Amino acid sequence: MKKIIKNGTVVTAADTYFGDILIDDGVIVMIGVDLDAEDAEVVDASGCYVFPGGVDPHTHLDMPFGGTVTKDDFETGTIAAAYGGTTTIIDFCLTSKDAPLSKAVETWHAKSKGKAVIDYGFHLMIGDVNDDVLFELPQIIEEEGITSLKVFMAYKNVLQADDGTLFKTLLMAKEHGSLVMVHAENGDVIAYLIDKALEEGNTEPVYHALTRPPVLEGEATGRAANLTELADSQLYVVHVTCAEAVMKIAEARNKGLRVYGETCPQYLMLDQSYLEKPDFEGAKYVWSPPLREKWNQDVLWDALLNGQLQTVGSDQCSFDFKGQKELGLNDFSKIPNGGPMIEDRFSILYSEGAHKGRISLNKFVDVISTASAKLFGLFPKKGTIAIGSDADIVIFDPHAQRTISAETHHMNVDYNAFEGMQITGEPVSVLVRGEFIIRDKQFVGTPGYGQYLHRKRFNQPGKLPIKDKTAGGVF
Ligand code: URP
Ligand code: ZN
Ligand code: ZN
Repeated sequence: MKKIIKNGTVVTAADTYFGDILIDDGVIVMIGVDLDAEDAEVVDASGCYVFPGGVDPHTHLDMPFGGTVTKDDFETGTIAAAYGGTTTIIDFCLTSKDAPLSKAVETWHAKSKGKAVIDYGFHLMIGDVNDDVLFELPQIIEEEGITSLKVFMAYKNVLQADDGTLFKTLLMAKEHGSLVMVHAENGDVIAYLIDKALEEGNTEPVYHALTRPPVLEGEATGRAANLTELADSQLYVVHVTCAEAVMKIAEARNKGLRVYGETCPQYLMLDQSYLEKPDFEGAKYVWSPPLREKWNQDVLWDALLNGQLQTVGSDQCSFDFKGQKELGLNDFSKIPNGGPMIEDRFSILYSEGAHKGRISLNKFVDVISTASAKLFGLFPKKGTIAIGSDADIVIFDPHAQRTISAETHHMNVDYNAFEGMQITGEPVSVLVRGEFIIRDKQFVGTPGYGQYLHRKRFNQPGKLPIKDKTAGGVF
């Protein structure tokens, strides 16, 4: 059935205007003033903003990590995402060195199919570049539409790849039109610092932060940017936390390199002192890179404002405090790394960013949705409100006041990292391809409704593939 969203203020990354949106068959077919359609259901958005659905470029659902498995799977995680205003996620598909890449992709399809309530795509981790990978990858890019490759520069002996692997991945990405993502921390030096801290009897959660100093994030970010320059390729630095890393990204961008950066709500709002909470509570805030000294938050907000960083991901990687984080009770290095962020990403960025005037409303839409859709080959199907785009829409009450809490959140995890935070604004209704997933703050979606997204290739300058003319862009 057709729907008309009426009387709302439509906000995209470019414009803000009063207008009605006509949806037919899951797609936006008309935008105008006082639209009429006899056979359409009218959805009243009076007093609300009408945003494109959030695009979260960084999630880890149902992922084995740190001796356990992340608590939210594709069902609970995407339901929580939808409550929070996110209508698309791109999740990390973990590979293993001794199995074909296609096996890992198959496993991730099995985890998500029949469960996701919103649309989703995959990034593919590259741990090694051998003959099998060189043979398989072009096929996976073409057939699966997985056009972003992740390399970990940290987590020694677990996920970490060496510089040769990163460089070869950058070369492959250039050849096949994909974007290389890096977790940028110097894993070798971190491993040394962790061993030293433990030898000295320092086992508490705060040593997680003290053994991963910002200089090692800056160093790895600069190294990855240099290798990108040498390969004439493109790089996306995930979860940027500190001034040292922002400087390296800004330096690369000032040289004209295709280097992009993402930060996350936790780095914008929380700081290193959270890891000092007593009774092991600091473990709730253990993720990598770690929380930093508070002054870095201003640097990150400024970097979003001035375009040095382009996106905000959640890095959703939830573990219960009881039973999972507790694996590291006597050794901080055994605390599973990650936190529950998928639900609050959108509203925190609205409340702390747009509402408080740190970024404009249009910039808010850009960092929460549009820029990720562009970089990851989903625009303009996702990431905007335009004729022909999927009707992925958030009707958002900008005046609602609420307090974030594990008591009321929808993630399948026993704590919320933003517990007690007062925020302004709340998604009221959320549509994916024209269907309500959240209606009047109630979940009305169906597990399995979410569709897998075959993404377009990264669009390099001078290499615009004709059939992909709206592919992920350079900006
Ligand atoms: O601590 C984190 N960030 N856990 C998820 C894996 C990663 O590094 O992104
Ligand atoms: Zn990471
Ligand atoms: Zn992550």
